[in-house]
Amino acid sequence: MADLSIEFCGIKSPNPFWLASAPPTDKAYNVVRAFEAGWGGVVWKTLGEDPPAVNVSSRYSAHYGKNREVIGFNNIELITDRALEINLREITQVKKDWPDRALIVSLMLPCEEKAWADILPLVEATGADGIELNFGCPHGMPERGMGAAVGQVPEYVRMVTSWCKKHSKLPVIVKLTPNITDIRGPARAAKEGGADAVSLINTINSITHLDLDRMVAFPTVGGASTHGGYCGTAVKPIALNMVAEIARDPATAGLPISGIGGIGNWRDAAEFIALGAGSVQVCTAAMLHGFRIVEEMKDGLSRWMDEKGYRSISEFSGKAVPNTTDWKYLDMNYQVIAQINQDDCIQCGRCYVACEDTSHQSIAQLIDQQGGRRYEVIKEECVGCNLCEITCPVQGCITMVPQKTGKPYMNWTQDPRNPRAESAQSAVQSTAQEPAAEVAQN
Ligand SMILES: Cc1cc2nc3c(=O)[nH]c(=O)nc-3n(C[C@H](O)[C@H](O)[C@H](O)COP(=O)(O)O)c2cc1C
Ligand code: SF4
Ligand code: SF4
Repeated sequence: MADLSIEFCGIKSPNPFWLASAPPTDKAYNVVRAFEAGWGGVVWKTLGEDPPAVNVSSRYSAHYGKNREVIGFNNIELITDRALEINLREITQVKKDWPDRALIVSLMLPCEEKAWADILPLVEATGADGIELNFGCPHGMPERGMGAAVGQVPEYVRMVTSWCKKHSKLPVIVKLTPNITDIRGPARAAKEGGADAVSLINTINSITHLDLDRMVAFPTVGGASTHGGYCGTAVKPIALNMVAEIARDPATAGLPISGIGGIGNWRDAAEFIALGAGSVQVCTAAMLHGFRIVEEMKDGLSRWMDEKGYRSISEFSGKAVPNTTDWKYLDMNYQVIAQINQDDCIQCGRCYVACEDTSHQSIAQLIDQQGGRRYEVIKEECVGCNLCEITCPVQGCITMVPQKTGKPYMNWTQDPRNPRAESAQSAVQSTAQEPAAEVAQN
């Protein structure tokens, strides 16, 4: 059976599933039940200086799908609203009772070295395994010069990280904000500051929806609202990309990454790990469905690893990174064409409408004498965009079939149609970056 245990920047954990810093990790009562349910680790709800933060009511809102499933979740809560001493006491006890689990303490303090130098020995004395620096909270705290206000300025990230390395022996994980143009800037700064790892993403600035009668957004506090932090399933694609950006950046290559954002099942976790994460963190899914979701996560991941022959997490961690490249290195000679399985087709016509109203017009709608409809792909016109496959309600009815073009791999830097063809040198370099999977399919 696959071994799910990990060692992440020196921190041991029986499995890669950690609860992210948030309400499910805000007190011993919750953390103990999470450990009982099987979570490998937790990042304790962010601690700060006393007096503790004060929250408003109400606090959460959601972006719903058609059947009221929560696609995205939004919150305007601040860091812990409990006294530092109570949190530290509980952390000490929990770590003592659960020595095999990873217990990381999240911290957020003003950008003053003394504040960090004062708190770090107290955290270290709890026996916790590491600290996570919350440079990502996008609401409330940035107005006070903390959270995302730090994460958005690489110089601050570097400076505070280096203070933590100076005043503590614990591994330092820097939690990054996605509310930035290029995630590589703060990730590089974290590494330069001595970070042992980065974690991402924290939440994304958001307004989910409005009460159009009262003309105010949710969550509503009296007659007003404010932007919150977006998380849950909807943010997974953004988080995955940011994780990949850091994993494949030569400046941060090899820096351990804890992947966070929209993880709700084992497959999501496997994707983050394949793109370079060494551990994963979960918040919204546990808030909506409870601690027991970890059972499916562990079981599913373990079964899949057995099926694929991966004996440990490290055997597939980062395996998709070499196949993630810049657009200019994609194979211009690669070609897929849609194929409709007529036996599965329910003649709904969605693929036809989508292709017809997009620029391609590559699906023919054939109507027989009885008025029966049949949809056929016009192979010569199909550009292989995937739109019909995406819109088809019958899973597996449309497949995208790679064509044997007989043409060799050629990227945009080598393409004669490129009016700004790059230098021969860059073409040579780019050949070296040819994604392995593409080669295999040709
Ligand atoms: C209600 C709520 C409170 C949160 N509080 C914190 C916090 O105190 N510190 C922190 O670093 N992140 C906090 N987060 C962000 C999460 O740790 C996590 O980064 C984010 O929700 C993305 O993960 P998810 O999509 O699994 O929810 C909070 C998120 C939510 C929903
Ligand atoms: S893949 Fe794109 S172009 Fe081809 S049939 Fe489908 S929608 Fe049309
Ligand atoms: S969308 Fe799918 S099911 Fe509907 S007509 Fe097209 S192939 Fe058939």
